[in-house]
Amino acid sequence: MIPIVYDQINGWGKDDDFFLSLLKEINAKRIADLGCGTGRLTIHFAQKGYQITAIDPNQEAINSAKRKEFADKVTWIVGDSGDLKPEAYDVVIMTANVAQVFLTGESWRQVIADAYRALHQGGHFIFDTRNPLAKEWEEWRYNP
Ligand SMILES: C[S@@+](CC[C@H](N)C(=O)[O-])C[C@H]1O[C@@H](n2cnc3c(N)ncnc32)[C@H](O)[C@@H]1O
Repeated sequence: MIPIVYDQINGWGKDDDFFLSLLKEINAKRIADLGCGTGRLTIHFAQKGYQITAIDPNQEAINSAKRKEFADKVTWIVGDSGDLKPEAYDVVIMTANVAQVFLTGESWRQVIADAYRALHQGGHFIFDTRNPLAKEWEEWRYNP
């Protein structure tokens, strides 16, 4: 990921409205944004007053996130799900296809176990994923 390019091509979407409405609906307060990237959505969470910890293994993305307005309201961590604090959050959220980075059953089980460990009882693990039935790759074109 190249942070400045990522932010230019990934604007606000309907899915982001959905995430915000879901957080409101479940009355979340403490959120871990796992795979936060450039803080594209994290910053909106912070702006809305949520208590946010944002984690991503990409140091460059975190550096870029930290330069944004409201970044001082966020606890930023360069790391992964193993860095989530135990029983600390109402929600662990992974947005914009972070789930797609876990390519093996083992890595997926690990992230689920870490998210479970990090949530309060009754907490929520929220994530999106592409729908393989849509076969989006059949629409991909190389246009030099
Ligand atoms: C498509 S970006 C999504 C960024 C952000 N959530 C958003 O809504 O714009 C995927 C992110 O997953 C991060 N990532 C890669 N491996 C990861 C891992 N093992 N744990 C958590 N995040 C990871 C990448 O560094 C990248 O920032």
